[in-house]
Amino acid sequence: MDFTGKIAISTGAASGMGLLFAQNWAELGGNVLMCDVNEAVLAEKVAEINSKGKGKALACLCDVRDYEQICAARDMAVEAFGKIDLLVNFAGGSACRIQKVDFKKHPEFPDIPIDVYNWGLDVNLKGPFFFAHAVMKQMREQKDGLIVNIGSIAGAEGSTGALEYAVAKAGVMYGLTKSLALYGAKYGIRCVCVSPGPVLTRSEMSRMNTLLGRAADPQEIIDLVLYLASDKAKFITGENIMIDGGRTIMLGGK
Ligand SMILES: NC(=O)c1ccc[n+]([C@@H]2O[C@H](COP(=O)([O-])OP(=O)(O)OC[C@H]3O[C@@H](n4cnc5c(N)ncnc54)[C@H](O)[C@@H]3O)[C@@H](O)[C@H]2O)c1
Repeated sequence: MDFTGKIAISTGAASGMGLLFAQNWAELGGNVLMCDVNEAVLAEKVAEINSKGKGKALACLCDVRDYEQICAARDMAVEAFGKIDLLVNFAGGSACRIQKVDFKKHPEFPDIPIDVYNWGLDVNLKGPFFFAHAVMKQMREQKDGLIVNIGSIAGAEGSTGALEYAVAKAGVMYGLTKSLALYGAKYGIRCVCVSPGPVLTRSEMSRMNTLLGRAADPQEIIDLVLYLASDKAKFITGENIMIDGGRTIMLGGK
């Protein structure tokens, strides 16, 4: 694959899959705006990519909960690179995990402070929605573009603890992805969702069961995203693609 001259925005790009995507994209010749809230790590990762001398990376401090910061990120990409071919909405994660909720103190859904869930809904649902809204304006002018959302097995299965995560991911996988595809088609804009099962961006994900008996290597998820961004995938839109080692067809993941 060769993405020379192509421009991507990766959110949540300071770590995990957002970072791995940016590294792959630049390695394949593309330029990338890397958005994250973790400014220090982001700067270091951007410098690493640029030192390789292939595609260019640019750091953008951007909280996906903030529409003004998102619009500024979009404008930064267009000013620096002239257009946006691809947006990948990686930023996200379960609020209880990220906000380190103490389950001994807050054991069940009604006990967990609503602020935790509010944060999670903002990041995981409104983040991709807001980013798509801002970037669509640019893609509509270009009459071309691809938005890749990142869902999760949780959006298909539901969750008793990470309720907001399951709800947000379901919204992204189905409502948002289909609606953006429906709206974007007349402007040559596609939208696809990639929904992983457990991925080894964290070692504890290996504890989650799959039909194939293992969690995914993060590269396996990025390979699918790169395929979707390639000319070979031009006929795919409005689809949610599960990449979960067959977990969805197991009964309740057991
Ligand atoms: N790892 C898995 O097993 C798995 C499974 C299914 C889906 N996913 C999804 O894949 C995506 C990436 O997961 P990962 O494991 O690589 O995550 P990660 O935790 O390694 O990276 C997430 C990044 O998002 C950034 N971020 C958090 N809040 C932000 C905000 N408000 N604005 C901008 N950036 C923010 C973090 O700083 C971090 O760099 C997430 O959407 C996650 O829900 C992961």
